[in-house]
Amino acid sequence: MSKSIVIAIDGPAGSGKSTAAKFLARELGFLYLDTGAMYRAVTYLALKYNIVEDTNSINDLVNKIFINLKYEDGVTRVFVDDEELTDKIRTFEVNSNVSIIAKIPEVRTALVDMQRKIASNNNLVTEGRDTTTVVFPEADLKIYLIASIAERAKRRLEEFRVKNPDITLAEVQKNLEERDRIDSSRAVSPLKKAEEAIVIDTTNMSIADEIDEVMKRIDLIKSESTI
Ligand code: DC
Repeated sequence: MSKSIVIAIDGPAGSGKSTAAKFLARELGFLYLDTGAMYRAVTYLALKYNIVEDTNSINDLVNKIFINLKYEDGVTRVFVDDEELTDKIRTFEVNSNVSIIAKIPEVRTALVDMQRKIASNNNLVTEGRDTTTVVFPEADLKIYLIASIAERAKRRLEEFRVKNPDITLAEVQKNLEERDRIDSSRAVSPLKKAEEAIVIDTTNMSIADEIDEVMKRIDLIKSESTI
């Protein structure tokens, strides 16, 4: 079988990764792999079992579970064993703890392993913090999305308000800044631009503009290669 094709998109929270990755996957008929959903699933379970501060127990947990992702109708459905965690991983509480869990080297090793296994049989579009640098350093196309903190906070506020109408812009921005700080400064696989990644600033772009911009890059690559 020929090698699978990987398009990897990294960037901070709210930079527009999911929007671009989901659209591209649909357009190209590739699998969509949301690596953040995996870190969120481990975080949800660590909170549920009250082991967020207990690295040994988290390591035991992550080596026991298999996280199953099913992308359906625009949503990544997340399952661990028989439990569906799709909505449970998108809470403010998970958001506030996920960067702490994602810093643990054993957690990263286990999840990167699962991500590569998924890729071994599929052409895919993936997104996260280290998909261009660590998980798929040989990706066929690497994109690094950025946007201003004010714009990213505004985007996330709209999502959170659906579940939590009292949340403020300041709270969301503080949470994002803290996650950016931890994600970018951790020792293992910090969020950073891969040397060859194409940078797109989505601050002043509509979703349509963003997709247009990403598709232009794909068309360029397509004309030169096998995608
Ligand atoms: O993309 P997201 O907001 O769902 O990601 C949630 C967190 O998971 C993010 O703050 C950092 C972590 N993460 C990571 O460390 N590496 C990845 N490849 C994806 C996410």
